[in-house]
Amino acid sequence: MGVPGLLGLAAWSFYVLVLAVQPHQANSSIRGSFGLNKGAVASPENGLCASSVTVHGYKCEEHEVTTKDGYILSVQRIPEGRVGGSAGTKKQPVLIQHGVTVDGLTWFLNSPGQNLPLILANNGFDVWIANTRGTRLSRQHVSLVPSQPAFWNWSWDELVSFELPALFDYVYGQTGQKIDYVGHSLGTLTALASFSEGKLVNQLKSAALLSPIAYLSHMKTALGNIAAKSFVGEIRTLFGQAEFNPKGKAGGDFIKFLCDNPGFDCYDLVTALTGKNCCLNSSIVDLFLTNGPQSTSTMNMVHLSQTVRNGVVAKYNYGRHDYNLMHYGEAMPPIYNLSNIPHDLPMFLSYGGQDALSDVLDVKHLLDDLKSHDVDKLSVQFIKDYAHVDFIMGVNAKDVVYNQVVKFFKGQHLRSLMEASVV
Ligand SMILES: *[C@@H]1O[C@H](CO)[C@@H](O)[C@H](O)[C@H]1NC(C)=O
Ligand SMILES: *[C@@H]1O[C@H](CO)[C@@H](O)[C@H](O)[C@H]1NC(C)=O
Ligand SMILES: *[C@@H]1O[C@H](CO)[C@@H](O)[C@H](O)[C@H]1NC(C)=O
Ligand SMILES: *[C@@H]1O[C@H](CO)[C@@H](O)[C@H](O)[C@H]1NC(C)=O
Repeated sequence: MGVPGLLGLAAWSFYVLVLAVQPHQANSSIRGSFGLNKGAVASPENGLCASSVTVHGYKCEEHEVTTKDGYILSVQRIPEGRVGGSAGTKKQPVLIQHGVTVDGLTWFLNSPGQNLPLILANNGFDVWIANTRGTRLSRQHVSLVPSQPAFWNWSWDELVSFELPALFDYVYGQTGQKIDYVGHSLGTLTALASFSEGKLVNQLKSAALLSPIAYLSHMKTALGNIAAKSFVGEIRTLFGQAEFNPKGKAGGDFIKFLCDNPGFDCYDLVTALTGKNCCLNSSIVDLFLTNGPQSTSTMNMVHLSQTVRNGVVAKYNYGRHDYNLMHYGEAMPPIYNLSNIPHDLPMFLSYGGQDALSDVLDVKHLLDDLKSHDVDKLSVQFIKDYAHVDFIMGVNAKDVVYNQVVKFFKGQHLRSLMEASVV
């Protein structure tokens, strides 16, 4: 899945598919049982606030944000903690951005005491949840509908050019305050690419990047190899140019394609795709599976697989010099030079020793690009036992990661966490 799994939780998508296709072959405990807890989490079709926030006694507002390229995004705001706050005090806004093939709901799968948005709200923050274009709550556009290929004519470049700027403008406009940002997986790549072009930084206070993704060439497992060799071609053939819907027939065919690759362990896909997560609760994983993977664009997946293959963080490659010339005025797509991220931007990076998507060597490459960053503006946490999904659903993520995020946003420098690890 190269790419799918690659970033984000696409992994889970495929996991779902494999279970659906080969239910009797699943045997590891973390697989849980597909569908077991159906209905345990309310469907968010009536809004994420209703399904995941107000049920726990918190205030929540549904917002819509329209991007310059016409997408109408669903955004939730949790303005205060359960016990409220002192009236009139301005709270610090935090925007939380998920990865690819999942949506904002993912952040709420852990119990209310253990999930990031509610922890931030209880710590006095004004919390905003993003849902990327194409996911179930953000499938509207001013003139297009998802059945049109033109609706899916974007890669993560457009998330950098249009989506994050629209979200920042909106939250900044509503609160009048600079924003703290949390990204996971693809939500870190789009942020880093934006910062490198000087985007968002005027409205940004600081950024916490969990499972940071930039370079992808060391992605472990057969995943990287498959992506490098054949992914681009396969994904286009199977999915066409439009919607990448892991739940559709093409998704099933893609799984079969992956499983035919020697070295790709279809019997333990979660581990094969995201690394050996230390700390998942199988009931929570069941909830996740019940909710299913989310669509993205095929072009986005192709762009991600280019990043795996080419070893650079660059704009989308149209695959032909004349097309690239037309779009960029150059035969090759321009790179995002991560060394150009403003050196005084407060950043907290938290990465795991077992993460197969955000590989330790790739994170080191990213840190090398940041070597001129002001020393007191960069905090790095290494969690030896964590893999990609632990950062969103780990049973101990509150103690291990989220409490550090809160401290970071409250202005504490976290160098001491450099070598933190989990039992
Ligand atoms: C799960 O399946 C794998 C591959 O078939 C096998 O090697 C392993 O022993 C099984 N584990 C359990 C707990 O049954
Ligand atoms: C996608 O957008 C490009 C402009 O960036 C345009 O040239 C192309 O025709 C569009 N394709 C579709 C299917 O809308
Ligand atoms: C796992 O999640 C279930 C459902 O939320 C919860 O009841 C259980 O206590 C959790 N187990 C652990 C070890 O956190
Ligand atoms: C990136 O920017 C840095 C500093 O501005 C420069 O030294 C380096 O050569 C650039 N890298 C590339 C690949 O252009």
